[in-house]
Amino acid sequence: MTYEIGRRRERITEAFEASYGTAPTVWVRAPGRVDLMGSHTDYNQGFVLTLPIRRDTWIAARPRSDRLVRVRSLNVEGESCFVLDAIQHDPVHPWANYVRGVAAVLQAEGLPLVGFDGIVHSTVPISSGLSSSAALEVATAVLFRTLGGWEIDPLRLALLCQRAENEFVGMNCGILDQYTSLLGQEGCALLLDCRALSHKTIPLPNSLSVVICDTRSRRELTGSEYGQRRAQCEEGVRILARFLPGITALRDVSLEQFQAHEAALPRVVARRCRFVIEENERVLRLAQALMADNHEAVRHLMAASYEGARDLYEISSPEMAAMIEAMEGAPGVVGARQAGAGFGGCMVALVEPERVPDFAEFVRRKYRATTGIEPEIYPEGAGAGAGPLAEPGAEESR
Ligand code: GLA
Repeated sequence: MTYEIGRRRERITEAFEASYGTAPTVWVRAPGRVDLMGSHTDYNQGFVLTLPIRRDTWIAARPRSDRLVRVRSLNVEGESCFVLDAIQHDPVHPWANYVRGVAAVLQAEGLPLVGFDGIVHSTVPISSGLSSSAALEVATAVLFRTLGGWEIDPLRLALLCQRAENEFVGMNCGILDQYTSLLGQEGCALLLDCRALSHKTIPLPNSLSVVICDTRSRRELTGSEYGQRRAQCEEGVRILARFLPGITALRDVSLEQFQAHEAALPRVVARRCRFVIEENERVLRLAQALMADNHEAVRHLMAASYEGARDLYEISSPEMAAMIEAMEGAPGVVGARQAGAGFGGCMVALVEPERVPDFAEFVRRKYRATTGIEPEIYPEGAGAGAGPLAEPGAEESR
């Protein structure tokens, strides 16, 4: 999965020439993301502290004069081919539905699309909670924008990518992933307000490094469990609105208000709502703690987030439990929690920079001894938001 910087462009060019007989003329990239705080708060119109990462998805392309799109991936087998005038689902290459979905949605918006031959290559691990899907959607959208020569407000483009995932792919995600990938800024976390659809940048203190701890396990149930969690939150809002007229999302409910009416909710719904309300509060507190470089607060907030994810939102897994135990006991750790939707995948730690190698070694050994699985542990930094790829030599991605 890790490629030498210079080799990556070379490998893609070689594959492009082998597939299409010419060299690519347009290059775009879009990053994955990791959430430092704010699990499942986005579709509750809440807050997320989110970080665009350096791992990203590239598309190298060459425009065509007809309405055909031919696209291959270096990560997954096969070529997907479609005509822009009749965009259907690809039942054989599910990954290509992110490309097709974005094309369908942009076109339905009246944006002029140009056909292309393309090669996709991603260093964002697939289905691991770091938004490989959004990175592909956003890279596709930026490619169509570049080829079509039109301009568009980045927020509108992020919302269109989300619509592609909701309506074409059929995953009812919130706005977190697409927003972060498009509007991320190098070196900063974003304190994202999912109702206002705006953010403040929060620089990460030098005293902390972000380390991704990939459990290398995934429950395939994510889609259905995700939809169920969403429905439970919505049910909670419907019931709470009887007592708190005017609320439209859990974002509107304070912990005090929730506690006063908690008994009216089915128990499982109450657990879900409590988690979201508390997690929202933790996002704002973590942003403050990072700005104040308050490690004790960081530790406490991240631990509480994982406990809530495990006991209230119930999105942990045996592998995540083994990983958090390893992370929390490791040298140099300041804070550790889940990332993405949960149910396996990646977790995230904030670690004292000079102790990252010791941390990684300890976690690797301990997690492997408990689960028998070889995890992937690697430091990450805040990468830039999506756009055209910098000229050769200036790439910052792996
Ligand atoms: C997935 C979704 C996001 C968000 C997270 C959980 O990544 O795509 O919209 O809901 O899960 O926070």
